[in-house]
Amino acid sequence: MKKPHIYITRKIPTAILEPFMDRFHFKMWDQELTPVPSDVLEAETKQADGLLCLITDQIREELFVEAPQLQIVANLAVGYDHIDIQAATEHQVVVTNTPDVLTETTADLTFALLMATARRLVEANNFIRQDKWGDWAPFLLTGSDIHHQTIGIVGMGEIGQAVARRAKGFGMSILYHNRSRKEQAEQELGAQYREFNDLLEQADFVISLVPLTKETTHLFNEAAFKKMKSSAIFINVSRGQTVDEDALYEALRAKEIKAAGLDVFKEEPIRANHRLVQLEQVVCLPHIGSASEQTRVNMLRLCLENLAGFFYGDGAKTPVN
Ligand code: DGY
Repeated sequence: MKKPHIYITRKIPTAILEPFMDRFHFKMWDQELTPVPSDVLEAETKQADGLLCLITDQIREELFVEAPQLQIVANLAVGYDHIDIQAATEHQVVVTNTPDVLTETTADLTFALLMATARRLVEANNFIRQDKWGDWAPFLLTGSDIHHQTIGIVGMGEIGQAVARRAKGFGMSILYHNRSRKEQAEQELGAQYREFNDLLEQADFVISLVPLTKETTHLFNEAAFKKMKSSAIFINVSRGQTVDEDALYEALRAKEIKAAGLDVFKEEPIRANHRLVQLEQVVCLPHIGSASEQTRVNMLRLCLENLAGFFYGDGAKTPVN
């Protein structure tokens, strides 16, 4: 069998590819930090039997039409809203993602962002860097308690449940909203199901972990922020488009909610002059939910195992269509 030709849309360490080199002919985009331009992606996909792509690549129907020999798209992320799954299925292209391997790492980051926002860690760090520390004072940089507060997790998938386990360790009351009930999380973690609006009204921390779909686009809008407590802290580690950013900005500015921790934005990358970055009660991160070295290596390995399973084994390990 001729080795399948795989195009990788970003420069990745060749050491990760080595164990697979006897089975595949790999070609990759030569930049580590910059996405492949769409014309290059189109041209390269026309030659490829498989793609290993990132969330920065728009994988739309035109690409499948122009590349009839393409058989599989291995996506280096659990979320796949940048891929037209229906078109892939119609063109008999298998799409895979990277569930499970990033669950705990993303939950760590979610909790870290919650803590950094609640306890104003970034502001406090900047305070020292800007040499503003005069003396200890009773209310200097006071934030919000985390322990024994109520967390409201919207999107109780694997990552949501991993966040709930961390919250349990902090003695928090755990509320969740999800399309389906999670009986196990209810029994093991004492998580309580709530209708969306009830969760918004009752939670001290509202955490967005929903996948981006038509239904979840702008789920967190003006009405949602108005329902939250004025002391509530909003954390988003899903996709920026689940939030109406104008409404979030207004809610923060008008002090309808207290603070926000954001790992994702409507359009990424954002620049330093983005208006949410200007608010000191907002902690912004550059979409690093799953960004530990070990996890990124594991995600890449899973992509390669999906390709190997598809071309040489019993099928892709983690297909989404
Ligand atoms: C995902 O996996 O969907 C993240 O957003 C990228 O790691």
